[in-house]
Amino acid sequence: MSDFIVEPAQGVAGRVAVPGDKSISHRALMLGAIASGTTCVTGFLEGEDCLATLRAVTSLGARVERPAAGEVRVEGVGLAGLRAPATVLDMGNAGTAMRLFMGLLAGQSFDSELVGDASLMRRPMERVARPLREMGARVETQEGRPPVRIHAGAGLHGIRYTMPVASAQVKSALLLAGLYAEGATTVIEPAVTRDHTERMLQSFGVDVVARGGTATLRPPARLEAARIEVPGDFSSAAFFIVAACIGARAPVLIEGVGVNPTRTGLLEMLALMGADLRLVNHRSAGAEPVADIEIRPAALTGIRVPERLVPLAIDEFPAFFIAAACARGETLVTGAEELRVKESDRIAVMARGLDAVGVRNEVLPDGLRIEGGPIGGGVIDSHGDHRVAMAFAVASLRASGAIEIRDVANVATSFPGFAPLANSLGLRLEERG
Ligand code: S3P
Repeated sequence: MSDFIVEPAQGVAGRVAVPGDKSISHRALMLGAIASGTTCVTGFLEGEDCLATLRAVTSLGARVERPAAGEVRVEGVGLAGLRAPATVLDMGNAGTAMRLFMGLLAGQSFDSELVGDASLMRRPMERVARPLREMGARVETQEGRPPVRIHAGAGLHGIRYTMPVASAQVKSALLLAGLYAEGATTVIEPAVTRDHTERMLQSFGVDVVARGGTATLRPPARLEAARIEVPGDFSSAAFFIVAACIGARAPVLIEGVGVNPTRTGLLEMLALMGADLRLVNHRSAGAEPVADIEIRPAALTGIRVPERLVPLAIDEFPAFFIAAACARGETLVTGAEELRVKESDRIAVMARGLDAVGVRNEVLPDGLRIEGGPIGGGVIDSHGDHRVAMAFAVASLRASGAIEIRDVANVATSFPGFAPLANSLGLRLEERG
């Protein structure tokens, strides 16, 4: 098991680019695999989660080449061309991979089984299995959790489904199943969630209409291979955005970040706290907006986070809680019970970590109340959660002593090279073990 030891630092400054977007990288492989022709992907995230998806699409019959770092070429087998995998498909730590594959595999003419690591085997899968069954799929979970078994030959039909939780993974799984269904599939979300699937399906020529939280897909005859340029992952940039907000000694510039508005709730939350953030150099990477993010030092004040922003910042709360710990006064997050079913229970695990470094907080069923104040040194158990580990590494910028973060190997699932990049900005992070 590896650990981070992070010593208090003088502050951060400079410019960095973060690795490619995890959500978009998963989707590029999956859609590339079932397209007609060769899909070329640049900026692909070579993290463990996306590599699990890469192995899975290979097991399902697609040929994948990696000609250079961050480049992937997927030879699609066509919409009906996937074949039975020889073994179970291991998704590792990747919830997105498992849930999206459930949708993709539900309409195939072969059986498949999806498993994952200890964390993934505890995560809820009925939220996807239930609506898939409504579409006619034969899907089994084990008391709601993986392993997930998907049986062959279920003819799917489109449904109109109102999701009980705001989840882009559920929405995406149903749209992927909808590719194989008879009739249109409509998914209605209770709050807007990331829309990468809708945008990328359109890039592959699929008729998807997405408006006001409703997405409707009409099953295509085929998907046309596409060029996918993956932007930097906003959720990885988030750690450096918060680092700069709490510890910049000069401006910090994060280059080439995906700024799809369904992902950037953190910017709004930090702006409400008084952060000095600017998006510059706007451009686009295919269907996705991209910009550089410039952050200057500013004092933060605690806020009550508007609940509408929660799904737009769902992966950023570990980093945000550190910003809240460094703000003057109290910050209150509610309506965020989904954090309890991420790679760890991020409300409980972050609260325990904040306790360990002396930050006063109160756990709520659906959120956290944090009292900003001094941060001490301490020992944090990340519970194998990549984002918890990176969040506490950033907290070192305001800590009075060293922070030791246990069980950090999973940082490689989303952010390979985090430690050297963080150090290049000014953190003093050492990885051991
Ligand atoms: C993701 C959706 C979100 C997010 C996850 C990636 C996606 O999950 O937390 O990291 O790529 O669709 P939920 O759909 O469970 O909110």
